[in-house]
Amino acid sequence: MKKLTVVFAIALVLALVPMTGMAAGGPKVELQQANIDLNNHAAIQRGAKLFVNYCMGCHSKQYVRYKLLTEVGLSEDDIKDNLIFTDRKVGDLMTIAMPEEDAAKWFGAAPPDLTLTARIKSGGEDWIYSFLKSFYTDPSRPLGVNNTVFANVGMPHVLYELQGIQDPVYKYEAHHDGHAVASFDTEAAAAAYVAEQGEGYRMERVVERLELVKPGSMTPAEYDQVARDLATYLTYVSEPMKLERQRMGIWVMLFLAVFTVIAYFMKKEWWKDVH
Ligand code: HEC
Repeated sequence: MKKLTVVFAIALVLALVPMTGMAAGGPKVELQQANIDLNNHAAIQRGAKLFVNYCMGCHSKQYVRYKLLTEVGLSEDDIKDNLIFTDRKVGDLMTIAMPEEDAAKWFGAAPPDLTLTARIKSGGEDWIYSFLKSFYTDPSRPLGVNNTVFANVGMPHVLYELQGIQDPVYKYEAHHDGHAVASFDTEAAAAAYVAEQGEGYRMERVVERLELVKPGSMTPAEYDQVARDLATYLTYVSEPMKLERQRMGIWVMLFLAVFTVIAYFMKKEWWKDVH
């Protein structure tokens, strides 16, 4: 009986090892809270509309059908009239026509499919929300923009007409042994400090904050809402997949439990005449 308990315990532990802890790492950046609400169907609908208008030129969601949106209160006609601009059908997957190799050539990186982004990015919806708010002017980059959340991003700031243009305010840090040891407002001050300290010290320019230098068509609060709606929508579409995974997990666990019991009785039956 003891052995059975052990086997069962192992099966249980294996089945319960959370499948969610696999979020990708990367350097830590401070994220802003998206505060999304997945029960807010209006936000999901607005996010879907923003997505097909501003994002789907480049990003697909190849595991999601347009039809999914009937579950947040849109009728098939709403979807057809407002969200589909091609000859696609409501039951079709949200794939796009841009070939990946072309995209990689144009942007230096292929726009990834966004079905599961909210799940696999560490930070999830907060990451997406912060990312959409963190584009800034950087003439050293091929597209003229960079992003504090996604360094050297290959995506243009597609929402700049709504948000406006943000310039970075830099600060200059002196680093020693991989740590920032001092921080300065001007490059000259940091350079002087580094020179004085001598060997092992170097200067690094970091973005301290972003400043809206040219307003867009929206106020900052309205633009926050746009970023939040998109984060809500992208989290929502990644969710059915997550629910699916959890459902599977429970069945696997039940199967293991039942199978362990069967295996135990089978063993007893087979070995009962063996001495
Ligand atoms: C002009 C093409 C284009 C458009 C339009 C576009 N993107 Fe992107 N996006 C890209 C490219 C290219 C990358 C990959 C960047 C890289 O790897 O450097 C990317 C990356 C991303 C990522 C990071 C994904 C990951 O897993 O790293 C997110 C999130 C994202 N885009 C969201 C959006 C949203 C939301 C919209 C609409 C508001 C949008 N994108 C519109 C080209 C585009």
